[in-house]
Amino acid sequence: MSNEFITDLDLRDKVVFVAGGTSGINLGIAEDFARAGAHVAVQSRSQDKVDSTVASLRELGVRAWGGAADVRDYAATEKVLADAHAELGDFDVLISGAAGNFPVSALKMSANAFKSVVDIDLLGTFNVLRAGYQFLRKPGGCVINISAPQSELPTITQAHVCAAKAGVDMLTRTLALEWGPAGVRVNAVIPGPIDGTEGMSRLAPTEESRSLVTNSVPLRRYGTPRDVANVCRFLASPLADYVTGVILPADGGWVLGGASHAMGVIGQPLLDQ
Ligand code: NAP
Ligand code: COA
Repeated sequence: MSNEFITDLDLRDKVVFVAGGTSGINLGIAEDFARAGAHVAVQSRSQDKVDSTVASLRELGVRAWGGAADVRDYAATEKVLADAHAELGDFDVLISGAAGNFPVSALKMSANAFKSVVDIDLLGTFNVLRAGYQFLRKPGGCVINISAPQSELPTITQAHVCAAKAGVDMLTRTLALEWGPAGVRVNAVIPGPIDGTEGMSRLAPTEESRSLVTNSVPLRRYGTPRDVANVCRFLASPLADYVTGVILPADGGWVLGGASHAMGVIGQPLLDQ
């Protein structure tokens, strides 16, 4: 790789695929890549959400494309990836961010509830990466998995997410080993509590729980989708050309331990119900 001094994070004419890119954090990532000049493809289950996301990305002046498929369905996901590749060309960046979450104690969690989250988060990430690899630029492509603090912090009411996202982190490291020789980097980002998202509205729905979360973040604020998108743009940029197999938090320091305290307090009444 070159030793050239790099002055910006321009992603003009790069091609980015975002699985789960039609709302929340992943939509914010897709939009910021588009603002940086990248052409963007998105996938999620809802055709309506895909259509409105594609329209809003095109308004940013880039080429955009989207397809509806469940990441749990390998064949349908591979078809969307293939169609995106036919439309936009080789992927420079492949982002896997589809996920499901709801708080429930392990003893009240049905086997199917556990399976549904593991299937979306972990099997879904495997499917997106396994099917997407053939369309990645080689050398030079990069993968970014969207993990979560639960991958590192055991968290009450989150047995399914903790297990699934810990798996995502190990998949990240394992594929960094397998795909490094082809010049493909594989990293993950751990968002902290991100304001205005479906995920945090499910986990901390009241003002009281929001305040507990805020006070457990060392930097004392919720994050924004842009906080996460900035780290993704860094990982996708030439500045990170020698970075692979890393699980990088964009979380105000939450995974240092504050989250387990806050979620312990929030989760306790749910255990007692
Ligand atoms: P969100 O708004 O609910 O976004 C989830 C996205 O994934 C949507 O586009 C959804 O669209 C899609 N999706 C869900 N299930 C899918 C499936 N089976 N197949 C294909 N697409 C599917 O979530 P968010 O809160 O922004 O979270 C986004 C990511 O950040 C997740 O990976 C989450 O674990 C991670 N994260 C979030 C937070 C947070 O504070 N929110 C913190 C840490 C980590 P459809 O409904 O159309 O399928
Ligand atoms: N508490 C306990 N169990 C729940 C639950 C809850 N709040 N929500 C769903 N489940 C259970 C269901 O009862 C079912 O189990 P069962 O068959 O034993 O009754 C199982 O989970 C699957 O539910 P289903 O609604 O069929 O799943 P789905 O595949 O249609 O949807 C979810 C997946 C449940 C994860 C849904 O919440 C979703 O689509 N989430 C995406 C958005 C999201 O979670 N965003 C936050 C990302 S961090």
